[in-house]
Amino acid sequence: MTKDRVVVVTGGASGIGLGVCRLFARKGHPVAMLDIQEAALETESAILRAEGAKILTRKVDVSDRESVEEAYAAIRQELGPIAIVIANAGISEGIPFDDISVATWQRMIDINLTGVFHTVQAALPDMREARWGRIITISSQAAQSGAMDRAHYAAAKSGVIGLTRSLARELAAHGITVNTIPPSVVATPMAEQGIAAGTFPPLDVISQHIPIPRPGTPEDIAAACNYLASDGASYVTGQVLAVNGGMFIG
Ligand SMILES: NC(=O)c1ccc[n+]([C@@H]2O[C@H](COP(=O)([O-])OP(=O)(O)OC[C@H]3O[C@@H](n4cnc5c(N)ncnc54)[C@H](O)[C@@H]3O)[C@@H](O)[C@H]2O)c1
Repeated sequence: MTKDRVVVVTGGASGIGLGVCRLFARKGHPVAMLDIQEAALETESAILRAEGAKILTRKVDVSDRESVEEAYAAIRQELGPIAIVIANAGISEGIPFDDISVATWQRMIDINLTGVFHTVQAALPDMREARWGRIITISSQAAQSGAMDRAHYAAAKSGVIGLTRSLARELAAHGITVNTIPPSVVATPMAEQGIAAGTFPPLDVISQHIPIPRPGTPEDIAAACNYLASDGASYVTGQVLAVNGGMFIG
């Protein structure tokens, strides 16, 4: 794949997003790492820059359209037109349905669903102009199988899958593919926070229920992003590529 294609990764300071940034940066792509965690962005990007990578970092809240647009303006100026978008930023929390407040519901939708809308829509002019683009959204198994005490999360992630499938149809004629990866269990700070809060089982316990008996890694998800972003995947669009060790087979 052409190495000068600019990659944007939301939630790039931690977990899966960081794994994706590392892979594309080490393959020679200019990478824009966007996240609300400014200090982590600086620490992680410094490591990649020291290896020779071309990295731009910006503090961005994906639920804030202005924040996304400002970052994209800087990306276009400093790195060039956006070719590959990995809409990964997200939050998760375990709350019984009866206890989900309207504000909590709204925040989940704003970040996990509307955040993807902003991240993708604001990048489209570059892809349309180039008649080439790759959009990869990170959804969740919660949308495929449902998730205990995560109705708001599963609803938002189901929206991401519907958005992905619809956009695939709308953008296919423009040389832009749109696919989603719904992880099941990936060893990241998000999973660790759930375990610490008692809303997610320990990884060694849950691994016993995964046909490939280990948690996923950010590298597992990044490898799938690399495939979906490749020229070789130009005939793959609207797909739900479950990188999950066989935990959900649908
Ligand atoms: N870890 C898992 O087991 C798992 C399973 C299924 C789906 N996912 C999904 O994978 C994605 C990445 O999760 P992760 O496990 O790497 O979690 P993580 O918490 O390690 O990383 C998520 C990143 O998103 C950032 N972020 C949160 N809100 C943001 C906002 N409003 N704007 C910009 N950045 C924001 C966080 O600061 C963090 O750096 C999420 O969408 C998550 O729902 C994870």
